[in-house]
Amino acid sequence: DDFHYGNFPEGFKWSVSTSAYQIEGGWNADGKGESIWDTFSHTPGKIANNETGDVACDSYHKVKEDVNLVKMLGVQQYRFSISWSRIFPDGTTSYVNQAGVDYYNSLIDSLLKIGVEPVVTLYHWDLPQALEDIGGLLNETVVDRFNEYADFCFKTFGNRIKFWITFNEPYVITWLGYGIGVFAPGINSSPGEAPYQAAHNIIKAHAKAYRTYEKFYKGKQGRIGMTMSTEWAEPKDPNNPSDVEAADRFLQSILGWFAHPIFKNGDYPEVVKKQVNERRTQSRLPVFTDAEKVEIAGTADFFAINGYTSRLLVFNLVHPTPDWLQIVPWGMRRLLNWLDREYGHPTIYITENGVGTSDATVDDQIRVNFYKAYINEALKAQQLDGVDLRGYTAWSLMDNFEWNSGYGPRFGLFEVDFNDAMRPRTPKRSSIYYNQLIRNNGFPLLQRDERITGDFPLNFIWATATSSYQVQHYVNIRIMFNLYNDGTNGDVACDSYHKFDVDIELLSSMGVSHYRFSLSWPRILPSGNRTTINHAGIAYYHALIDGLLAAGIEPMVTLYHWDLPNALQEEFGGWVSPDIQDLFVEYVDICFKEFGPKVKRWITFNEPWGNGVKAYKAAHNMILSHATAWRIYDTQFRWKQLGKVSIALSSDWYEPADTASTSDLEAAIRATDFRLGWFAHPIYLTGDYPEKMKTQVAKKRTPSRLPVFTDAEKVEIAGTADFFAINGYTSRLVTYQDKSTWPPMFNLVHRQEPIPGAIQATPDWLQIVPWGMRRLLNWLDREYGHPTVYITENGVGTSDATVDDQIRVNFYKAYINEALKAQQLDGVDLQGYTAWSLMDNFEWNSGYGPRFGLF
Ligand SMILES: *[C@@H]1O[C@H](CO)[C@@H](O)[C@H](O)[C@H]1NC(C)=O
Ligand SMILES: *[C@@H]1O[C@H](CO)[C@@H](O)[C@H](O)[C@H]1NC(C)=O
Ligand SMILES: *[C@@H]1O[C@H](CO)[C@@H](O)[C@H](O)[C@H]1NC(C)=O
Repeated sequence: DDFHYGNFPEGFKWSVSTSAYQIEGGWNADGKGESIWDTFSHTPGKIANNETGDVACDSYHKVKEDVNLVKMLGVQQYRFSISWSRIFPDGTTSYVNQAGVDYYNSLIDSLLKIGVEPVVTLYHWDLPQALEDIGGLLNETVVDRFNEYADFCFKTFGNRIKFWITFNEPYVITWLGYGIGVFAPGINSSPGEAPYQAAHNIIKAHAKAYRTYEKFYKGKQGRIGMTMSTEWAEPKDPNNPSDVEAADRFLQSILGWFAHPIFKNGDYPEVVKKQVNERRTQSRLPVFTDAEKVEIAGTADFFAINGYTSRLLVFNLVHPTPDWLQIVPWGMRRLLNWLDREYGHPTIYITENGVGTSDATVDDQIRVNFYKAYINEALKAQQLDGVDLRGYTAWSLMDNFEWNSGYGPRFGLFEVDFNDAMRPRTPKRSSIYYNQLIRNNGFPLLQRDERITGDFPLNFIWATATSSYQVQHYVNIRIMFNLYNDGTNGDVACDSYHKFDVDIELLSSMGVSHYRFSLSWPRILPSGNRTTINHAGIAYYHALIDGLLAAGIEPMVTLYHWDLPNALQEEFGGWVSPDIQDLFVEYVDICFKEFGPKVKRWITFNEPWGNGVKAYKAAHNMILSHATAWRIYDTQFRWKQLGKVSIALSSDWYEPADTASTSDLEAAIRATDFRLGWFAHPIYLTGDYPEKMKTQVAKKRTPSRLPVFTDAEKVEIAGTADFFAINGYTSRLVTYQDKSTWPPMFNLVHRQEPIPGAIQATPDWLQIVPWGMRRLLNWLDREYGHPTVYITENGVGTSDATVDDQIRVNFYKAYINEALKAQQLDGVDLQGYTAWSLMDNFEWNSGYGPRFGLF
C-alpha cells in the first residue's frame, strides 16, 4: 500500500468514459429503433424503482454541454459508445437513420475541435430489439449483422477515429444478460448453455469486424480491440496450491474465456473447456472450427481492460459479497501484472475504472481517494513492474443510468440532477482532482515530500515512551474509570509492574538512549497525600530507574500522565479545584527527592489540553501547579541534581485551507492558540493566555470562563520550562467560518477537516501527514523564541496486532525525515525524538484496540 511518486510516460492517454444507453436518452427520438435495454427497462420490475434510460442525462440533446465537461477534465480521450439502433433502427443495413449519424458526427467533430481523441465502443450492451426478436446474440446471423454495422461505422466515422472497441465487457453481457437474466435481454432459462452460445457469437462477431477493419481501414485509420473485464482474484492462502489454482481458474473463466482465443490460439482456455464439459457428458461449450481459430487468434491491437475490484478465492468457493465493489487498489496492480505475463506483454489500456456512491453529493472525497489509490497502483505496474500500460480511463464522465440499479449508484466525475428537466451537470471534487492528476501526468514528488539524507547531531536523544496506566499492573489500587468499551481495563495492561526487566531488555535491543515513562501518583501516594506512602511503589520505580541506568539508558520521567489518585477526584473534584495545587507540589517534591539524583529530565504534565466545560479551570490549575513544581526544582534541586524540567504539550499542525487567505491563516493560528498556545503562551512567553484566546472566550459569555492569572502568578509562570517538549501526531486543515461551531464553549470561528488525500490511520483522529511535523516544529521555533525542542511523542496506531507493521516503518521514516529537515534545513534546535510507544498498550477509552507499539 505504499504510495509511489512518479510520472506516467509522455504520451500516456488520460481518458473518461460513458456509454450510449446510460447517458443519451432520446430513446425513440428522430427515428431511433428500440434496443433491448429500452424493452427491458420498460418492463416493470426489472430496474430499481422502475427507472428507465428514456431521458437519462439527455446527452442526445447536449453535445455541447458534454464536450465542455470533457474539456474541463483536460483528458486526451473520450470513450463513448454508438447506439446500434440509433444508426440502424432494425439492426440491419436496410435503413440508415441519418439523424443518428448526424448526432455522432457532431459529437466526434466537437471533440476533435477541442483536441480530444474519440474512443468509440461499437457495442455497449444495447442490441437492436429487432435482432433480439430473431434470437439476438444466440442467433449466429448476428455475426454478420454486427460486421455490417461495424463496417458502416468504420466507413462513416473512421476517418476521424483512431481507437475502436468492438464489444464492452462480454462476460457481463453473457452472464448477466443470458445466464442469470438481471440485465437485458433478461434470459435465464438455460444458464448452462445460453451464455456460452452468446459468448461464442460475440467472439466470432468481434473477429469478423476486426478482419474487416484490418483489410479495408487499418492502414489509413487506427487500432481496434475488445474491452474485457474481470475482478482480480486473490488466493485466500497464497501458500495453498488449491487456492492458487482456484484463483487462476476464476481469472481464466471470466477473462480468459474471451482473452485466450483473441490473444492466444483462437480457442478457449483448456481449464475452461475442462470445467464446462466436466459438468455434463454433452459439451455445452461450442467448438471453434480450425478456420475460425485462425480467424480469431490475434484480433486485438491492444489489451483493453475494465477493472474495479477484487475478491478472495478459496478452493471451490468464491467468497460471496453483498455489494460487488470493494475498494482494493493493490488488486489493480496485480491484475495488470497477470495480464502482462499471461498474454505476452501486450500494450494495455485501462478502459474503465471508478467507484459509485449512493448519494448525489459533489463533495466526493471517497472518489478522490479511490482514483488516487488505484491510479497509483497503475503507476506502480507501469514503472516498477514494466507493464506496458499506455492509458487510463475513468468511469464515468457523469452520473448516469446504472443499468438494473437505475439512478441509485453515482459513478460520475460530474453530478447530474435527474429531477431537473434540464439535467444540469455540476463538477464534483473528484473532477478537479482528476484534472490536476492529468496535468501532472501522475504523482510528481512535491518538493515538500522529498526525503533528505543526513545525520542528527551527536548526543541526539533517541527515546521511546510509555505511561504508567497504559502499561503497568495496578494491584490494590482503585481507579476511577475501570470499565471501558467491552469491559477491558488497565488492571493488568502489559503487566510492566512485574516485567520491567523485560521492558529494559526491549529498550536495550533497540538501542535507545532514553526511556520516557511516567510515575503513577497513586502508586506512590495511594490517597494522594503524604499520609500514606507506598514504599513498594517507590521501590518499584527505583528498581526500574536503576535497571535503565545499568543498561546505559537514561530515564525521562513524566510526573503526571493522567492517573490522578481517585481519592482526590472524589474529595474535591481533582483538577477543577485549586486545592489540587498543593497536593501536586507535595507529590512532586517527594519524587524530586527520591529519584532526582538519578533523573536528569522531568516532564511535569503530559498533554494538559482538554475539552469540555471544566477544561479551562483544570488547565488553569495545571499551569499553576506546573509553574510551582518548576520553581521548587529550580530553587531547591537544580544546583545539586543538574536536571531539566518541562511540560509535554500536544498539538496537531493546523494548516490553513487557503494559504493566501488571511482569514484562513488567522483561523489556523487561532486553532493553534486553543490547542498549544493555551499552555505554551503563559509558560514560554508572558505568563498569561494568548490575547486572542482571551477575547474569543470572553465573547461567548460574561464573565469569561477563562480564569485570570494575577500579576504575581504571571511572573511565577513565565519562563518555567527548560526545553520544549512536544507530542505531535497529525495535522488538520482549517477553514475560517463565520459562525460558532462545536465545541460551543470555544466558540471557534473555524472548521477543521482531515488533510485531503492523507492516509487514514488508527485511531480515527490520526491521518498521516509527515510534512505537518516539520511545520509544527518551525512554528514552535519562531513563536516561542528558538527553544530547545524534544519530540516527546510521535507514532501511529494500527487496528490489528500484526508484527508486520510496514505502515509504522513508513510512518517513522517519513516523520523523522521531516524532523531532520526542521533540524538541518530550518535551524530548529531539535535535540530529541521519542517514538510512541514502546509496546502495544491500553489505549485509554479505546481499550486494547489501537496498537501503537514497536513491540
Ligand atoms: C414497478 O412497477 C410494477 C408494475 O407496475 C409495480 O408492481 C411495482 O411496485 C413498481 N416498483 C416500484 C418500486 O415502483
Ligand atoms: C436467426 O436469424 C435468421 C434471420 O437472420 C432467421 O431466419 C432465423 O429464424 C433465426 N433463428 C432463430 C432460431 O430465431
Ligand atoms: C489524606 O487523605 C486521606 C484520605 O483521603 C484523608 O483521610 C486525610 O485527611 C488526608 N490527610 C491530609 C493531611 O490531608
